[in-house]
Amino acid sequence: MTNPDQLIVRPLRPGDEEAFLALRSAITADGTVFAKDYQPGISWAKYLRVQDNARAGVGLADGAVPYTFLVAEVGGVLVGSSDIRHRLTENLTRWGGHIGFIVDPRHRGYGFGTEILRQTLCLAADLGIRPALLSCRTDNAGSRGVIRNASGGAVSPQIRDGICSYWI
Ligand SMILES: CC(C)(COP(=O)(O)OP(=O)(O)OC[C@H]1O[C@@H](n2cnc3c(N)ncnc32)[C@H](O)[C@@H]1OP(=O)(O)O)[C@@H](O)C(=O)NCCC(=O)NCCS
Repeated sequence: MTNPDQLIVRPLRPGDEEAFLALRSAITADGTVFAKDYQPGISWAKYLRVQDNARAGVGLADGAVPYTFLVAEVGGVLVGSSDIRHRLTENLTRWGGHIGFIVDPRHRGYGFGTEILRQTLCLAADLGIRPALLSCRTDNAGSRGVIRNASGGAVSPQIRDGICSYWI
């Protein structure tokens, strides 16, 4: 369960509720915000509809752009997630960019973050997002490592106000 070659990034499916809730608990345990559009108690079918609508740009919160939420599965376990924002706003250009990613703290250090971003960049390109803007704080060594690895080490960040911005 530690081989990034076995990792698949994909949308949520009808059978994912239990695995999604386990991932959500692990990631939010330290107060990290995760899957903001999930309301505890919502039926799984309804949450999958929220996801479909988000991709289509229907029923979005104020200021939100259409997005695609994805999970990363390794051997039947959800180990992380990513999301693609289909277009940039002024705020996203300043901070956030096109793609966010996160790995369950229990599964970090195996190359999963790198593989999640690599596959998510391909899926973003399929949506016409190429190049993609990524951003992270200058002191987020893990995120910088993931971005460096997934871009083949070829891209240098623009650094401003403690934020690294990369066009990949
Ligand atoms: C950042 C994060 C996704 C990294 O996930 P991961 O699966 O551990 O990443 P990888 O194993 O692919 O590591 C990629 C590189 O970063 C390095 N790295 C990862 N975490 C690191 C850390 N905390 N400090 C220093 N380097 C780190 C790895 O050593 C690796 O570099 P290497 O190939 O030279 O050894 C994970 O720590 C996380 O989810 N953090 C919280 C959310 C977050 O910051 N997301 C990014 C938002 S911009």
